[in-house]
Amino acid sequence: MSWNAPQGFAGQYGPWALIAGASEGTGAAFARRLAQQGINLLLVARRPDPLDALASELESEHDIETRTASVDLTSYDAPAKLVELSAGLDVGMVLFNAGATTRFDSFYDWPAGDLAAMINMNCHTVALAAHHFAPGLRRRGRGAIVLIGSMAGFAGSSHHGIYNATKAFDWVLAEGLWQELGPDGVQALILVLGATDTPSHQRMGVDFSDQTVMDPDDVAIEGLSNLHSGPVYIVGEHNRAILNYILTSDRAAVVSAMSAASAGLARQIHQR
Ligand SMILES: NC(=O)c1ccc[n+]([C@@H]2O[C@H](COP(=O)([O-])OP(=O)(O)OC[C@H]3O[C@@H](n4cnc5c(N)ncnc54)[C@H](OP(=O)(O)O)[C@@H]3O)[C@@H](O)[C@H]2O)c1
Repeated sequence: MSWNAPQGFAGQYGPWALIAGASEGTGAAFARRLAQQGINLLLVARRPDPLDALASELESEHDIETRTASVDLTSYDAPAKLVELSAGLDVGMVLFNAGATTRFDSFYDWPAGDLAAMINMNCHTVALAAHHFAPGLRRRGRGAIVLIGSMAGFAGSSHHGIYNATKAFDWVLAEGLWQELGPDGVQALILVLGATDTPSHQRMGVDFSDQTVMDPDDVAIEGLSNLHSGPVYIVGEHNRAILNYILTSDRAAVVSAMSAASAGLARQIHQR
């Protein structure tokens, strides 16, 4: 799909963007759309090969520079690594993409290490890295901190309640950042996604056939076109309708509905 970026896009968000969780799915889609705007990219994920392949593709198609780095965002020192990697780069956008649930199991069946990893990636790494980048963005008077959220962050559920809780953390953190950074010309927001057809979900065996599923590139286009629409922007009209239900319904009913959907996905995954 073609995309006309808002006027002055590269000036506002360049010359460098850091994407945490960049190698595939929505992360790669954001990278491709930013590269089209001439923004240099610091691309981070765990597996180096897909990152390097994406970097080569983008450098061959666009007049940009890229850097890639293998970092496990669940590790306690991930924020320090992101700081180190970005040293000397004029970073205008920090986009935290990685963060999908890694399990569909009852809370008490999640290994404690997996719970801690989820909290580290979606809370500790996001908060401390944002804390590092925010002052530099304020000094520049432009740029963006973009958190990727989930509809799951608006209610508790069975099977990945810890994921929902970390996404609720990101939602509220983004709102605070939006309030504090906005007056200095820096946009902070959470882009909230619903079901999206990403390799990560495909590998897990999630079948979204009974839901409206978005394409990662459509998510990237709608998200990047609405960076000014913080503190919370829900990607996809159907997801905005779901959020309306979530926010206006009895909480017990919402949690039951969310849990029924999660339990269905868990059954599919465990039957594979
Ligand atoms: N897909 C959906 O239906 C859906 C729905 C709602 C919200 N979201 C949100 O959208 C975002 C992207 O989701 P996704 O489905 O594409 O899966 P994801 O696993 O969150 O993201 C995939 C990207 O992140 C990297 N990544 C994953 N874990 C990492 C780690 N520990 N350290 C460093 N990089 C890591 C992956 O590369 P490596 O594996 O090489 O590290 C890949 O580049 C997430 O924040 C998720 O919560 C997704």
